[in-house]
Amino acid sequence: MKATAIAPANIAFIKYWGKKNDALRLPLNSSISMNLSGAFTTSTVEFSPDYSQDTVGMVGEEFSQKEQNRVITQLDVIRKFTGCNDYARIVTKNSFPKGTGAASSASGFAALTVAALHALSFSATEKEMTILARIGSGSACRSIPDGFVEWQSGEQSEDSYAYSLAPASHWELCDVLAIVSKEEKKVATTIGMEGINTSPFWKERIAGMPEKLQLVRKAIADKKLHELGKVIEEDAINMHAIMMTQDPPLFYWNDSTMRIIHTVRSLRAEGLSVYFTIDAGPNVHLICETKDESTVAKKITSISGVETVLLNHVTKGAHITNDHLF
Ligand code: DP6
Repeated sequence: MKATAIAPANIAFIKYWGKKNDALRLPLNSSISMNLSGAFTTSTVEFSPDYSQDTVGMVGEEFSQKEQNRVITQLDVIRKFTGCNDYARIVTKNSFPKGTGAASSASGFAALTVAALHALSFSATEKEMTILARIGSGSACRSIPDGFVEWQSGEQSEDSYAYSLAPASHWELCDVLAIVSKEEKKVATTIGMEGINTSPFWKERIAGMPEKLQLVRKAIADKKLHELGKVIEEDAINMHAIMMTQDPPLFYWNDSTMRIIHTVRSLRAEGLSVYFTIDAGPNVHLICETKDESTVAKKITSISGVETVLLNHVTKGAHITNDHLF
């Protein structure tokens, strides 16, 4: 009744910001991402009739009571789905420091869900696993399929799931992640996105999605970075414009974020093919091809305010390992 799973974080090219059903985490729009090789969570889950409560721990870091409760809620979802009544012990470990802007809720809930189902010897399909992970944290569903992944928004729980658009081997794309702050974000994504409809621009954002999604699907299929890059920058700026015009407004960028944006635009003017995207924090993800990775990393490291650079390649989704954490 014990299993361990590894799941990568992912970076969204078309962002998820806003839900049409909070409890089920049904998003307002479909989103597309790539899995990140350098930022992953390992999770060992053991169910036992001998346990009298759930216990949740993290290697080398503190897990707040609130975070533990969210994990236990997800265990309840899995228990209900599988018909299991036992409590569990969970230990997780992140490959990246907390607060680096790498999406720990995505990799965390993907690893937890896949490990728990495996520990219970429950043979769920990939689609079912993504639906369950989505209920834990929306973006977690995109960390289960291989490589480049689309999360179809759907109208109800059964049709809001993620699937691979192309395997990791399809295209040698990189994400050079520039860390400019290791502070925990002040407003968590779940809370932040509740305010989306206080922005006067949110309906335009959602109305523009089908076209942007189609451009990204095609750019991935054709491996055209300049086409992909144009849309991902546009969508990241669009999402942050929504955040900044919400009530209360959310400002996730800082001065280093702006410096990186300007540098990326100058590098492109000089002929380097690199594009930026930014999640709910100040850190910047620079998307380029493997051949340009070291040049991009070198240029970005020299910008004032950049503390660390994490190199990521596109990688496979969540999978089982025999290396248990306990
Ligand atoms: C800005 O998946 O963390 O990173 O479903 O409430 O857990 P919850 O939100 P979460 O939101 C991620 C938002 C984002 C964009 C994205 O990854 O698509």
